[in-house]
Amino acid sequence: MTARYNVLSPEFRNDPYPTYADMRRNAPVCQVDPGGMWAVTRHEDVIFVLKNPELFSSRGFGLALNPPWLGGNPFADSMITMDPPQHGRLRALVSRAFGTFSMARMEPHVRAFAEQAVAELPLGEPVDVVPPYALRIPAFVIGDLMGLPLSLHARLKRWADLITGGVTTVRPDEHDRKELARGAVADLRRYFGELLEERRRAPAEDLVSDLLAAKVDGEALTEDELIAFMTLLLVGGIETAVNMLGASLVVLLERPELWETLRADRSLIPAFIDEVLRYEPPLHAVPRTTTAEVEIGGVKLPKGAALLVMTGSANRDESQFPDPDRFNLARPGPKNLPFGHGVHFCLGAQLARMEGRLALEALFDHARRISPGPEPMAWHRTLLVRGPGSLPLVLHST
Ligand code: HEM
Repeated sequence: MTARYNVLSPEFRNDPYPTYADMRRNAPVCQVDPGGMWAVTRHEDVIFVLKNPELFSSRGFGLALNPPWLGGNPFADSMITMDPPQHGRLRALVSRAFGTFSMARMEPHVRAFAEQAVAELPLGEPVDVVPPYALRIPAFVIGDLMGLPLSLHARLKRWADLITGGVTTVRPDEHDRKELARGAVADLRRYFGELLEERRRAPAEDLVSDLLAAKVDGEALTEDELIAFMTLLLVGGIETAVNMLGASLVVLLERPELWETLRADRSLIPAFIDEVLRYEPPLHAVPRTTTAEVEIGGVKLPKGAALLVMTGSANRDESQFPDPDRFNLARPGPKNLPFGHGVHFCLGAQLARMEGRLALEALFDHARRISPGPEPMAWHRTLLVRGPGSLPLVLHST
């Protein structure tokens, strides 16, 4: 028997793409370490899974995040863990508050904040751009979207981490870490509960007020559903966008000529962001569980099998993307898979793209060029997410 692929090994964390290519060629549906989940790596199979939620449930998403010791986790109760028809009802309610109009309303705020964050980056000396740029801008965007005070933004990523990785990586005897996770759940329930109360009393021009007013067939969201959705935005909107902003700069550090091209012609930035999302996607996999015995790519899976649906691999599938390991600004072909497919397609795709564009525009105005810092960068990787954990570089004014 050949050894199983390990999707958390150091080599895989640094560069998963050769392994993905090998898997697509030799074992497109196979069990992987750690844990024995079934990895699905070909574009065609990934689309099949995501298009058929009645066969591939999203329920498993929540299980690992809500162990009995935690006493409840709003993220685990959010719509990303639901299947039709329950999912459709919630999605219809929140989509109305999340359309083009809301995005247009946010654009000037995001632009102003990106300019402010970038203006504070030092010129001519090394800086790890993950905290003051890649993380700070997405935290602002989520905070602004929900109308949270600026003083709270720094806490958002910490809460998001504590109720996801902070739950799944705890050992049974780590009582302090359990207490931290329970504290984060209690804090965010309290803050979000107070915010809802305030907006009920005095509606404002923000998403929370829109959510409170949203109705489908006369039915509104319950308090628990509202808090679960706000928690989903926190987790879904920060970690992913941090990695997108970081990966954009990794690509540009390696290609100074591309920095020049984009800086001179800003209309190319949206195409650049889409190719970054394909080439270095923030989310490499989404989980699903089979609801019946089913065959994918010639492999029979039992009912209840846990799947890692590897969009990170599908984005490099040569059947869809010729010469897939080349970064190609003019690449034709499907663009949306980094944001998923089917009923759970990312609600924040438009916002994320706007964020990527405005952050880069601000950076091009601030710096003439960038160069690598003295320390090497490090990739951060979990089962689902990958991006620069640190990214030291130097911004130059000339
Ligand atoms: C580059 C950044 C982003 C990427 C790559 C990304 C990716 C994804 C993917 C792949 C899914 C589907 C998950 C599944 O099928 O199980 C998803 C769902 C979702 N995303 Fe994003 N996302 C990003 C940014 C955002 C932002 C900024 C927000 C909110 C402000 C957001 C909100 C959501 C929500 C609410 C869902 C759940 C939709 C549903 O269950 O119907 N995302 N995202």
